[in-house]
Amino acid sequence: MMRKCSGQFGTLSGARIKLGVKELKKQSIGIGLMGLGVVGGEVARVLMDKAEVLAEQVGCPLVLRKVKVLESDLAKPQAKEMGLQLFTTDADEFFAEPEMDIVVEAIGGEEPALDYLKRALSGGKHVVTSNKEVIAKHGAELFALAQQYGVGLRCEASVGGGIPLIAPFQQDLVANKISGIYAIINGTTNYILTRMAREGTDFASALKRAQELGYAEANPEDDVDGIDATYKLAILASLAFHCQVQPQDIHCEGISRLDSRDFKYARELGFAIKLLAIAKQGDSWIEVRVHPVFIPEESLLAKVDGVYNAILVEADLVGKVLFYGEGAGALPTSSAVVADVVSAAQDIIAGGGSRARWRLEPGKIIKPMSELETRYYLRLNVADRPGVLAQVSKVLGDHLISISSVIQQAADSVSQTAEIVIMTHPAQEREMQQALDELGHLASVKQICNFIRVEA
Ligand code: HSE
Repeated sequence: MMRKCSGQFGTLSGARIKLGVKELKKQSIGIGLMGLGVVGGEVARVLMDKAEVLAEQVGCPLVLRKVKVLESDLAKPQAKEMGLQLFTTDADEFFAEPEMDIVVEAIGGEEPALDYLKRALSGGKHVVTSNKEVIAKHGAELFALAQQYGVGLRCEASVGGGIPLIAPFQQDLVANKISGIYAIINGTTNYILTRMAREGTDFASALKRAQELGYAEANPEDDVDGIDATYKLAILASLAFHCQVQPQDIHCEGISRLDSRDFKYARELGFAIKLLAIAKQGDSWIEVRVHPVFIPEESLLAKVDGVYNAILVEADLVGKVLFYGEGAGALPTSSAVVADVVSAAQDIIAGGGSRARWRLEPGKIIKPMSELETRYYLRLNVADRPGVLAQVSKVLGDHLISISSVIQQAADSVSQTAEIVIMTHPAQEREMQQALDELGHLASVKQICNFIRVEA
């Protein structure tokens, strides 16, 4: 049997009379769901399948009152099972539902989701969203709106799927000064890189499988080009460093220029290749970037495979903390969304208003990428004749880039070219970019096949 609100409230102390009044008023918490795609469909299923246990957590039932869908969703078997009277394709009709306490947005993308979120918050609804793009671009504004209207805004599912991350950054780590975040936060690309590294699978078929498994974005270029990871890093860095990091502040490179030969050399040199989202903080600066990196194969992050995400946080009090789990897919994401719904419902029952926090402190500058200092892996296709290696090392030397090792592969006698792989000591990005430009103009350099930064 489902417990009634009164049984739960009776155990609370301190504000018994006030809560007692609410107890009489609140027999259920009404949910409005926007979107019935991969995430929204699973959230609806969990809310219904786990209704009893969720009601136990909240103290009264969570009742799905309205679902805003696209015309095409109405034909889905799930829509028919749930009862078509719940559904509307009209946003005005959705927002007119009087018994809706919490709006769950699982539409994704910037618009119309942003408009709906503002409408929900300014209409006094608590909001749960899985929308990383909207939070990354408009988090400060939306959290301010939530505070203004005294309601909660929760976005646990926006980063890392089912891994608790937003709550730790907003609550559990607040006593820390966070110095670094090193994160694998895109499941699709990690799945692709893992299959390329382990099985030699080609890029296209690994991506196709990731799409079939529901990991990839509607537009998979957002995954592959690193854009999805920049949204997530913008959210984490903003929360961690208390400054507004916008996606466009983040240097972003995707994985499409990686080749099976890079994986072969990485292995030979003792590295794994990962798409890392990196954020670091100094006294007056922050550094934010997303790009493929060589990381030592014995490091924890190198062992994170498949759709799994891992977020390593370095902070002054807690030291190093690693968050690890499934970062994409319907089930893990619905876990985070439903947890947020329960938390919002508990706040409503307890008479709580806004707990929204997006603290902003002035004065931090985003360090330009040109000032980055790191080691590099460089793979070149060069003419196979005397003096070429000397020309290449002269260009690097002119830019104060010191070589730590060189591998030369057997020459191709037909094209009379050879492949050389150079690992450098730490060098400045500005110098490396200029050196790459000069190398590209040498007649003996046929192709700059790849360069990858090393994060050790
Ligand atoms: N496309 C995203 C990923 C889904 O692959 O990580 C979760 O945000």
